Amino acid sequence: MQEIRYELTKTPKKKPAPGDPLPFGTIFTDHMFMMDYTEGKGWHDPRIVPYAPLQLDPAAIVLHYAQESFEGMKAYRTKDGTIQLFRPEKNAARFRSTHERMCMPPVPEEDFVTAVKALVKVEKDWVPSQPGESLYIRPFCIATEPHLGVKASNTYYFIIICCPVAAYYPTGLNPVKIYVEDKYVRAAPGGTGYIKCGGNYAASLISQEIAESLGYSQTLWLDGVERKYVEEVGSMNCFFKIDGTIYTAPTVGTVLPGITRMSCIELLKKWGYKVSEERLAITDVMKAAREGKLEEVFGTGTAAVISPVGELRYEDEVAVINNGKIGEVTQRLYDTLTGIQWGLLPDDMGWTTKVC
Ligand code: COI
Repeated sequence: MQEIRYELTKTPKKKPAPGDPLPFGTIFTDHMFMMDYTEGKGWHDPRIVPYAPLQLDPAAIVLHYAQESFEGMKAYRTKDGTIQLFRPEKNAARFRSTHERMCMPPVPEEDFVTAVKALVKVEKDWVPSQPGESLYIRPFCIATEPHLGVKASNTYYFIIICCPVAAYYPTGLNPVKIYVEDKYVRAAPGGTGYIKCGGNYAASLISQEIAESLGYSQTLWLDGVERKYVEEVGSMNCFFKIDGTIYTAPTVGTVLPGITRMSCIELLKKWGYKVSEERLAITDVMKAAREGKLEEVFGTGTAAVISPVGELRYEDEVAVINNGKIGEVTQRLYDTLTGIQWGLLPDDMGWTTKVC
């Protein structure tokens, strides 16, 4: 990557004060990273500039055919004031895999990480310091060529924006209620379920609205072929502890390979738990609940961190999990993962990268 050009704002915004509410994804920092791609020239002009609206041609391919990719990651302020990232190279690798599927030019993985670090360094005073708070980082790429024929763009923007955030769910670490979707489908084999593109989320909104109208926070998706096997929840991967074994859906093409998911599996195996990535039928989950064997359910994600699930609704049946309370394994994963991320525990796994 060429050297990053810095054009810093002369009118910085007022930062939230410690203790101010930080509703997820609504407050943006002073700057953004941008880089252009043009076919024949490659990625060029990396720059950190004041956060501002984009100028886009109304015919830009992203606006019509959704040729787009994104990532989600966080920067954490540790107790000694340093700022660190969590496994940023995994986000860079997943971004590359998204770009392959979406016919977008790859952003070299080391450039992705360099750009994230450079922006976080500029925005270091925006990284909040209260427990559970962090700086959410959203790298994304959009197809900018004005063209109404369906084809891959020959120009792109790669952009990174940041926002200080607290918990993703307003309920914090209190268990969420999840609605199992049995009509609509999120992903099918051969589709885009395993990558991070905006279209996956646009297609999920209808179910999210149904879930909310019934008093549930999010949707648990079933497989797109038989509507039988559990896959993932709106913004997180999902784990089920049944009779001592911990199940999570295999990432075989329709499920997002979450970095928090991967880290939880590594921790659970290290702690001696049996983790199964075999397919799990929703009817077996509900049967286990009826028999008192569904011990814990939790979601994992960068935004959601570790989120206990207290209730599942499938068709007309409702399963209450662990009396609606956070389970032992869920709490241990939350404490360990956030302990490593916020530098409160030693990073035995080598997962953190210091920025400044
Ligand atoms: C994340 O956890 O970072 C995500 O990208 C999920 C999201 C759609 C909020």
